Amino acid sequence: MNRTLGRSGIEVSALGVGTWAMGGPWWGGDQPLGWGPADDAESVRALRRAFEMGVTLYDTADTYGCGHAETVLGEALRDVRDDVVIASKWGYTFDAGTKQATGEDASPEYLRSAVEASLRRLGTDRIDVYQLHLTNLEFPLALELRDACEELVAAGKIRWYGWSTDDPARAAFFATGEHCTVVQARLNVMEDAPAMIAVAEEHDLAVLCRSPLAMGLLARESFDLPRDDVRALAPEWMEYFVDGQPSPAFFSAREALRSSLTAGGRTLAQGALAWLWDRSPRLLPIPGCRTVAQVEENVSPLLAARTDPS
Ligand SMILES: NC(=O)c1ccc[n+]([C@@H]2O[C@H](COP(=O)([O-])OP(=O)(O)OC[C@H]3O[C@@H](n4cnc5c(N)ncnc54)[C@H](OP(=O)(O)O)[C@@H]3O)[C@@H](O)[C@H]2O)c1
Repeated sequence: MNRTLGRSGIEVSALGVGTWAMGGPWWGGDQPLGWGPADDAESVRALRRAFEMGVTLYDTADTYGCGHAETVLGEALRDVRDDVVIASKWGYTFDAGTKQATGEDASPEYLRSAVEASLRRLGTDRIDVYQLHLTNLEFPLALELRDACEELVAAGKIRWYGWSTDDPARAAFFATGEHCTVVQARLNVMEDAPAMIAVAEEHDLAVLCRSPLAMGLLARESFDLPRDDVRALAPEWMEYFVDGQPSPAFFSAREALRSSLTAGGRTLAQGALAWLWDRSPRLLPIPGCRTVAQVEENVSPLLAARTDPS
């Protein structure tokens, strides 16, 4: 099952794979920003399995593991580079040596250096979709970055770009750039975003749905999280987890949805992803997967859709 990546016209699998957890640990001071230890060999196996199963869309960011996720992704898919679409992000700064987040930089100069660093780590000569990671950046600064992205398109460093933001006005603003083709937004069965979908329809964008499984809450039954998992010591922006456990409000919401999501023998995760596919043809869920087992569970409905003659 394929979908169109907004106005780019590129066909991609209806499901992508997100690589935040594959970056391994990094920190903002004492606050973990990763998802505990990553097993690089298993990450590579999971990415290869996803490709074998037909996944052609992969989302990453320079900041995940302070560059590590990009390196792992680049190595895993090097020999099939021309057959996949790689989406990465820039905007947050970090120190790869200490694995510390160091802030953010919204200057065009930083954008130009960040893209070169991502290209090196990914082992590629172009990024298919480059996304501004600074969710709430002021409009004048975003305008400069939109124009700088157009220059990077002209230079062949990136093909298309977008903004990772939950604000429909910001998504529409960035879409005034000719090669803006996505918005990345939080969207899952517990948190719909009709205004964002309307912007995507109006401006011919695809919506890369981040946290489509509510950071695992829509996939796992129990949580015993290591201390270096961002969900264990949840930062203030975290909604889904409190003290390492599902927040009561989201836990109740999930339980209320359980029977409809698991209808027909689907797993909870499969039901949550299917809801997004049904919600709008503009939506492309990018569930974070870090094991072969997770990939197989999340991707198998895509294969079923491909072979279903109805
Ligand atoms: N732009 C941004 O600011 C931003 C923010 C968030 C995410 N993202 C992107 O969106 C992607 C996905 O979002 P997300 O990582 O927040 O969360 P998510 O996709 O909602 O949840 C991913 C987590 O759920 C668990 N999981 C996945 N499939 C499973 C399965 N079949 N069975 C059991 N558990 C399963 C895994 O955690 P465990 O391995 O711990 O079980 C996995 O790491 C990220 O990887 C990243 O690429 C972007």
